[in-house]
Amino acid sequence: MKHILSLSLASALVLGLAACNDDSKETAQPAPVKQEESKTEQAAKEVAKAVEPVAKSVEETAEKAVEEVKKAAETVADEAEKTVETVTQEAEKAAAPIVEKVEEAVKTAEAALLSGDAAKGEKVFNKCKACHTAEEGGKHKIGPNLFGVIGRTAGTADGFTKYSDAMVAYGQTWTPELVVEYVENPSNFLKDKTGDTSAKSKMTFKLRDDQDRVDVAAYLDSLK
Ligand code: HEC
Repeated sequence: MKHILSLSLASALVLGLAACNDDSKETAQPAPVKQEESKTEQAAKEVAKAVEPVAKSVEETAEKAVEEVKKAAETVADEAEKTVETVTQEAEKAAAPIVEKVEEAVKTAEAALLSGDAAKGEKVFNKCKACHTAEEGGKHKIGPNLFGVIGRTAGTADGFTKYSDAMVAYGQTWTPELVVEYVENPSNFLKDKTGDTSAKSKMTFKLRDDQDRVDVAAYLDSLK
């Protein structure tokens, strides 16, 4: 009896062990797969860890490169601007004396044109005396008295009644320059200034010589 019991116990034990063994086989089998998976994960993690600094340094290098390019571009732009400025300044510097000389020449020409000699002009005025007096309060002749004509409105000599319609229409203040222009060709002058092509001055005399005209205008300008 005791033997049988122990036998059945032993077989139960064997059966149990076998079952246990089966169980352990079933549960132990997936273990290496899991292990492999975690190995792969770990490897991936490690790769990621290893790549991270590389990626960072690549990013940093790219950023640096962009900054360098920007800086270089700024420098080039700055230098280009400076060069343009310098060139402009140089051109201005180079042109300055020429401009000055031209301005001087223009001034000299203007001065020469307007620096009439009143004393010489008094002699030239002999040609005008047939029709004009020049002394203060002088009588009108074929033309009006010309004392103080510079600064006077054209066509307004007190008591002179024989002005042309064109002269009255013109009606500007006489300057030496205008008298120089007028006496060269009185009718053309009034045509030009009034825009009336049929304008005709009653002064038929023309003084052709440039210097004579400038001088006589200076003489009239001295009568004040
Ligand atoms: C042949 C006569 C004659 C001679 C010479 C003459 N003039 Fe005249 N001048 C006139 C007459 C006429 C007028 C008026 C013109 C008009 O109304 O169109 C006049 C007008 C003028 C005026 C404008 C006067 C004003 O009150 O607006 C001036 C200036 C002038 N003469 C200057 C001269 C000078 C300078 C000379 C000599 C270089 C000269 N004239 C020679 C006849 C003459």
